[in-house]
Amino acid sequence: MPRIGIIVGSTRPGRFGVQPAQWLLDLANARSDADYELVDIEAAGLPLFDEPGSPLMVEPQNTHTIAWKERIGALDGFVFVTPEYNHSTSGALKNALDYLFHEWNDKPAAFVSYGGASGGSRAVEHLRGIMAELKVYDLRDQILLPSYYLNLDEGGRYRFSEAEEKAAAAMLDELVFWTVQMTTARAARKAELVAA
Ligand SMILES: Cc1cc2nc3c(=O)[nH]c(=O)nc-3n(C[C@H](O)[C@H](O)[C@H](O)COP(=O)(O)O)c2cc1C
Repeated sequence: MPRIGIIVGSTRPGRFGVQPAQWLLDLANARSDADYELVDIEAAGLPLFDEPGSPLMVEPQNTHTIAWKERIGALDGFVFVTPEYNHSTSGALKNALDYLFHEWNDKPAAFVSYGGASGGSRAVEHLRGIMAELKVYDLRDQILLPSYYLNLDEGGRYRFSEAEEKAAAAMLDELVFWTVQMTTARAARKAELVAA
């Protein structure tokens, strides 16, 4: 089974981000095409990048980095759940991305974004540039939740629509397809390298 991580991109106390991440995880867990898990960068406890060099070239030295490397390395695909902070993604998510290189490589990603009227679209546009450098293959699929705070119930819970559920199902279909393709491709390349 491919393993897909739903990555919560906000660490803010009272963050909204856990709501769409948990919603997507619940929808995903009703499927049987992959193993889905929440990856909370808050729980990973990463300080501002404190390794001696780029993860492209330098092995990690810190225990938090080694744990993060193992966590992400075990995954085959990602959904980034991102807020929009000043027309970009959160500093916390950028920092968590910066910590690793190889563990992100040659894996697909889809997106859930939220914020004001733009629904976090500018955060995802910035993320797509970062994805290219990390060799993450960003899918077109993306769920936007514009001005989500206008659609909360009395308990502060976002009211997800049927259209959003449909969009989530289509996004996961696409993500699983590419996760399987790319997992196979990574294994084939590894076998070629071993044989050479
Ligand atoms: C520092 C900061 C900058 C923000 N900048 C934007 C922005 O540029 N565009 C936008 O739509 N919302 C912006 N917002 C609103 C956030 O998208 C909104 O507060 C959201 O709930 C943040 O995600 P979180 O609750 O998961 O941390 C900003 C919020 C913060 C805290």
